Formats: sequence, structure tokens, C-alpha cells
Amino acid sequence: MGSIEQTILVTGGAGFIGSHTAVQLLNEGFRVVIFDNLDNSSVEAVHRVRDLVGPKLSQKLQFHLGDLRNKEELDKLFSQTKFDAVIHFAGLKAVGESVAHPRRYFDNNLIGTLNLYNIMAKYNCKKMVFSSSATVYGQPEKIPCVEDFDLVALNPYGRTKLFLEEIARDIHRAEPDWGIILLRYFNPVGAHESGKIGEDPKGIPNNLMPYIQQVAVGRLPELNVYGHDYPTRDGTAIRDYIHVMDLADGHIAALQKLFTTENTGCIAYNLGTGQGTSVLEMVAAFEKASGKKIPIKLCPRRPGDATAVYASTEKARRELGWKAKYGVEEMCRDQWNWAVNNPWGYGCQSKP
Ligand code: NAD
Ligand code: UFG
Repeated sequence: MGSIEQTILVTGGAGFIGSHTAVQLLNEGFRVVIFDNLDNSSVEAVHRVRDLVGPKLSQKLQFHLGDLRNKEELDKLFSQTKFDAVIHFAGLKAVGESVAHPRRYFDNNLIGTLNLYNIMAKYNCKKMVFSSSATVYGQPEKIPCVEDFDLVALNPYGRTKLFLEEIARDIHRAEPDWGIILLRYFNPVGAHESGKIGEDPKGIPNNLMPYIQQVAVGRLPELNVYGHDYPTRDGTAIRDYIHVMDLADGHIAALQKLFTTENTGCIAYNLGTGQGTSVLEMVAAFEKASGKKIPIKLCPRRPGDATAVYASTEKARRELGWKAKYGVEEMCRDQWNWAVNNPWGYGCQSKP
């Protein structure tokens, strides 16, 4: 659907979700400009995106090394290219780190995003897709989570998402010509089916799937299962895992809405599958996909974790025409394929 005139700025496009979305954008015919400071990513991901889409489409991809907190860099970027819309992934996302270093999170996520809105307004680019998170539902009293639930923040990272959602709503209220879509991701996992791009966290992973992956390739000895006394079917916590390629397609659907509807407004959509999976079910699915045993250690609950979180997917289906295609089996298959081909992420390409 993308036309030669449509150029999308993808902030944080070298990262996990951004790189997969860049592939789909290019495949859809958009021009893509990635702006990333590589704080939590590698330029190798951008090379792999080029490789995946082939020489012709990769001519439509540009990469700029830069930081959203640097207004001059942003002005230079916008003065060189006319953007039709921005997909804004760039941000810090580690919950524990945000508790230890809240100023770092407010500086990066809030100031970076305000700079982006200001430069977009200056150059009259007023279509924005923003990476929000299911974290804004906190520990939901009811499931599935519906977009009109009350929102809450449980930690500084979550607060940046909540504030940035409120800021988006305020900007739209004051200047209704903005179209802003807030996408609340549930738990993104998996990788591109080619195994060329995937998630490559620095240090010991905080999240379940990258941790399981590193146990499977022998980088970590066992998985700590945080909590086995939750009131769930097997005592472990339940989440809504979503394949990163489904997530990428959700961004295309959001752009399509921004480009085809007048007065889109400022609207939030959940991007999830609507299916809950427990930690132990995820371990079993990964063992099946990989043929590897994942040793586990049952540990106390992780502070702040909710019992069960999954999405209502109705609004995204109805208004974006988007629905997740993949289940847990494909998520584990593709994540394992990425792990086998890149056991050390983008750092080293040899097989285990
Ligand atoms: P990621 O860390 O892989 O990607 C984020 C990218 O932004 C990185 O490449 C990083 O280098 C870049 N970046 C950070 N600060 C920047 C700055 N000031 N200027 C320029 N570039 C900057 O993370 P991801 O998993 O791809 O997440 C993308 C977005 O989705 C984030 O906003 C995150 O909070 C949100 N999100 C992620 C998850 C998840 O579990 N992965 C869940 C919900 C929401
Ligand atoms: N878990 C373990 N062991 C681990 C890691 C996680 O048992 O080593 C458990 C957690 O306790 C939780 C489940 O696996 O029950 C999922 O944990 P993740 O850390 O993978 O994901 P969360 O649901 O806690 O949080 C993630 C992101 C948040 C985001 C949220 C909703 O980390 O930033 O999804 O999108 F807000």
C-alpha cells in the first residue's frame, strides 16, 4: 500500500521491534528512515534488514545515527527529508533499571519524545504511531484488558508510557489536526522466520523468552521461574505473548488508518493475541520447538508482577482490521531458528 511518496521515520528502528517493522514497511513499498542512537542495538540489525529485503528495496532504507535528545540532529534530519508519518519506538524499556535510574528514563523517554513532537510540528508532520505497553494496565483487576480501562503506572518505565499517552492526548486535544495511534504491546517474542533478525538483549535478559533462549543455547544454566503459587492453572503467571511479525503488521495497519481516515484522533489499541500462556506452558512450547531441555528452578514471585494479563483484541480487529496470525508454536519455532543461527545475537555468527 505504501507509495513512493510515503516516507516513514522509524525512531529506534535498529531495535527488536523496530527492525522487524522496518522489514514489513519496506516490503509494503514505503521509504524508511531509521533514526537510532544504538544505545540498545547494533547497526548489524540494519545490515540484516537490507539483506532480508534485497538490493532493490534496501535502496529505500536510510540509517541515521542520532539521539532524540539532540534537537540539532533532529532538525537536520527533518530539514533533509519530508516525512509522512513517524513510528516512534525509541526508548529505554528495562523496568528494574528504571527503578534504579528514574532520571535516566524520564530524560530519555520523555524529553526525547517531546523533542520529536516539537520537530514534527515545526515541519508539519502530524501523524504518529507510538509504542505504548500493556504496562499501563498495571495489575489489572479484570481480564482481558480493554482499552478504556483505568490506567496506572507501577514503576518509572511504566510512568513514562502513561505520561506519554497523556501527553499525546493533550497534544491532540489542543491541535486536532494530529493523528496519533498509541499501540499497547503485550509481550513481544519470536523473530523473523528467516532467522536473520531477532531480539539481542545486552547482558542477562530480564524477559522470559530471551532468557529461555539463552538457557537453550547453553549461555545460561537454568531458568528461574518467578512464582509458582499464583491462582492459575499451573501456579505460574499468565501473559499474552505476541509474535513480533504480527506486531510489525499491526504498525502497518495503524499507518493505513492514519493515511486513510480524516481526523483519526488520538486512539489506543491493544496489540496482543487475546490468549494467555503460563510460564510453564511457554517453557514446554520452547522445549518442543527446540528439542532442548530447559532446566528450571522454582523461585519466589518477582515483585510487582501481575497474576494474569492478556488483551482484548476486539478494538484492533474492528478498527484497524488487524488480528494476530501466529500462536505460541510459531513464536517458539522462529525464536529458536534465530537462536540457532545467532547464539550470541548480532555479536557472533557461528553456530553453537
Ligand atoms: P529495543 O531496545 O530493542 O529498541 C529501542 C531502540 O531505541 C534501540 O535500538 C535503542 O538504541 C533506541 N533508542 C533508545 N533511546 C534512544 C534515543 N534517545 N535516541 C535514539 N534512539 C534511541 O526495544 P524494543 O523491544 O524494540 O521496544 C521498542 C519500543 O516498544 C520501546 O519504546 C518499548 O518501551 C516498547 N515496548 C516494548 C516491549 C517489549 O517487551 N519489547 C513491550 C511493550 C512496549
Ligand atoms: N519470568 C520468569 N523468569 C524470568 C523472566 C520472567 O519466570 O527469568 C516470568 C515473569 O515473572 C512473568 C513472565 O515470566 O510472570 C513474563 O515476564 P517478562 O519479564 O517476559 O514480561 P512482563 O510481562 O513482566 O513484562 C513485559 C515487559 C514490560 C511490559 C510488559 C507488557 O518487560 O516492559 O511486558 O508489555 F510492560
